[in-house]
Amino acid sequence: MNFDVLVDRKNTGCFKWDGLKVVYGRDDILPLWVADMDFKSSPKIIEAIIERANHGVFGYPFASAEVFKPFIEWNNKRNNLYIDEEWILTCPGIVTAFCLGILAFTKEEEKVMIQTPVYPPFHSGVRDNNRVLIENELIEIDGYYTVDFEDFEKKIKNNHVKLFILCNPHNPVGRAWSKEELDKMAEICLKYDVKIFSDEIHSDLIFRGNKFTSILSLDEKYKGIIAAAMAPSKTFNIAGLFSSTVLIPDKDMKEKYKKLSDSLHIGSLNIFGLTAMEAAYKCGEEWLEEVLEYIEDNSDYMESFIKENMPEIKYRKPEATYLGWLDFRAIFPKAEDLNDFLVNKAKVALNSGITFGKNGEGFARINLGCQKSILTEALNRIKNMLDPTKRKQD
Ligand SMILES: Cc1ncc(COP(=O)(O)O)c(C=O)c1O
Repeated sequence: MNFDVLVDRKNTGCFKWDGLKVVYGRDDILPLWVADMDFKSSPKIIEAIIERANHGVFGYPFASAEVFKPFIEWNNKRNNLYIDEEWILTCPGIVTAFCLGILAFTKEEEKVMIQTPVYPPFHSGVRDNNRVLIENELIEIDGYYTVDFEDFEKKIKNNHVKLFILCNPHNPVGRAWSKEELDKMAEICLKYDVKIFSDEIHSDLIFRGNKFTSILSLDEKYKGIIAAAMAPSKTFNIAGLFSSTVLIPDKDMKEKYKKLSDSLHIGSLNIFGLTAMEAAYKCGEEWLEEVLEYIEDNSDYMESFIKENMPEIKYRKPEATYLGWLDFRAIFPKAEDLNDFLVNKAKVALNSGITFGKNGEGFARINLGCQKSILTEALNRIKNMLDPTKRKQD
């Protein structure tokens, strides 16, 4: 694959490129925000979709056990994770999945905990469904984030938290949580009878020297409190096909989740989504290895560009996800100043860090899933506009 080839995504009904005016108020800016990639998906997936389209009949789909076999085998082989076919439910998207989890596993006004900074729908999913949000802030040292376990336990105990939504790997800080960290989180949750919903959408976007550990691979004793959600959407750049899985080993938890999902008639997948999912896990590995290498090169390139040209910005390479978390606090501690600089001066669309939590103020998230020429242009725009503004705002 030649990932350097530009793909014109404008006027294709794509949020990242066509939604700029609506979200940023202008469309003369370079988009490196929404978490999808600017590359074409795997040719094997595209072929499978074309073949399915050529069939010409698009009636109601049926997800047979066959469809999930490649997904199960993939996780077994790549992630050393055993998935029982019985655990699998389907859902269009992972945000829908964790919102259903919130509704199924908690009651109104009950407490749900997240670890900030984290993907904004973790916040809104809790609040919009009339649950009370509890935030356990991650600890940041030199761009490396770890869990504040003392606060984790205190928050759970003092607030009678009922559900913890885990982001693994964690968007936006790029951590692929270790088995030891996951064990500690699960142990505390088990102790206080807190259920865990683990969003594992980024599970296959892991860089060299790092490893993904699913919450589902922990000791059997935790199975009664765990639900996890996975999807080929980020991995293979098919988010618009809305095709995800929810994995729940415990029968009661699964029944609760399924009852709610059935009552809303929301579990069924799109026919092309199913086709793509099967093809992705069956034949997408080679493409994934290549794209990961390309993204990691982008990440290395950005690291050296920043060090050389604008060292006041701090960047630590992520262990996982194609998202970079840039620390602008030395120059723009305030979110409004940083946003104004990026959008109106540098003319790049990044995600404002504060939308991930108050400890995200002064940060911005950049999407590395793009052609190197786009990344280079964005970094140059930032660099060129930065010089006159190298001063702390008061
Ligand atoms: C952690 C996380 N969860 C969920 C999503 C979105 O999932 P979906 O589009 O399947 O709802 C994203 C997208 O960026 C994400 O980063």
